Amino acid sequence: MDLLKRIGEAAAYIQSTCSNQPLIGVILGSGLGGFTEEMKIDQEIDYADIPHFPVSTVEGHSGKILIGSIGGKTIITLSGRFHYYEGYSTEEVVFPIRVLQKMGIKNLMITNAAGGTNTSFKVGDLMVIKDHISFAIVNPLIGKNIESLGTRFPDMSEPYSKKLIAKAHNIAKQHGFELKEGVYFGVTGPSFETRAEYKLIHHLGADAVGMSTVQEVITAVHAGMQVFAISVITDIGVREEDNIISHKDVLDAANAAAPKLTAVLTSMIQSFEHASYI
Ligand code: HPA
Repeated sequence: MDLLKRIGEAAAYIQSTCSNQPLIGVILGSGLGGFTEEMKIDQEIDYADIPHFPVSTVEGHSGKILIGSIGGKTIITLSGRFHYYEGYSTEEVVFPIRVLQKMGIKNLMITNAAGGTNTSFKVGDLMVIKDHISFAIVNPLIGKNIESLGTRFPDMSEPYSKKLIAKAHNIAKQHGFELKEGVYFGVTGPSFETRAEYKLIHHLGADAVGMSTVQEVITAVHAGMQVFAISVITDIGVREEDNIISHKDVLDAANAAAPKLTAVLTSMIQSFEHASYI
């Protein structure tokens, strides 16, 4: 079936279950599901019930859409995302973004777990993503461009909204902590990087590396969305000899940092003005 038709059917199914138009989309990464406890949840939809939606397989991702509100702002949260390393095509990885686009979502907030390549970072730090490096992943816009979804050659000078970044720093200060800020390097995974790769990524100008987000952000920018993204630093790639990384370490570190992350996201959502929805 034609992509636009599949997007339309998935969006229509989700919309048929919600009474309010969600105005912000949130995508939660590995181990970061605690955020949903702050939501007043009105509807919960399993990915498996949404027409044409891929189904998430990775541990720590539940695979649900939650529609509800925080501080009176209606949001749609995707708890569980699709990674290229799971074997999904790029079209499948970014399908949820297209569905959000079809639903009229203009603001997207993304979280992920990432390995720090900036040596001043510590496990548990939160890094606001100010830019990314995408050339180690497959660009999701490759293929025939569908003009109704976005332009052939989208500008990428500000993929992450400077306004939202400034807001996040202010909010963190009010909560009594600092956010790091840096460049995220996208990789496919699923193997973690070798020592040489972490060093290379650092030399190329990135502060963190991760296996998600970049394809989603490119699609969201193509779709005309305003994007905010934040990484939990779950391991330090430029590391000591005995530092071995496991998925469990990543999930544990993400869980430990979840309260800070949740505080930033919920305050940001509360501070959205209705005018900035449009
Ligand atoms: N590398 C890639 N992806 C990751 C890492 C990492 O070190 N940590 C969490 N996700």
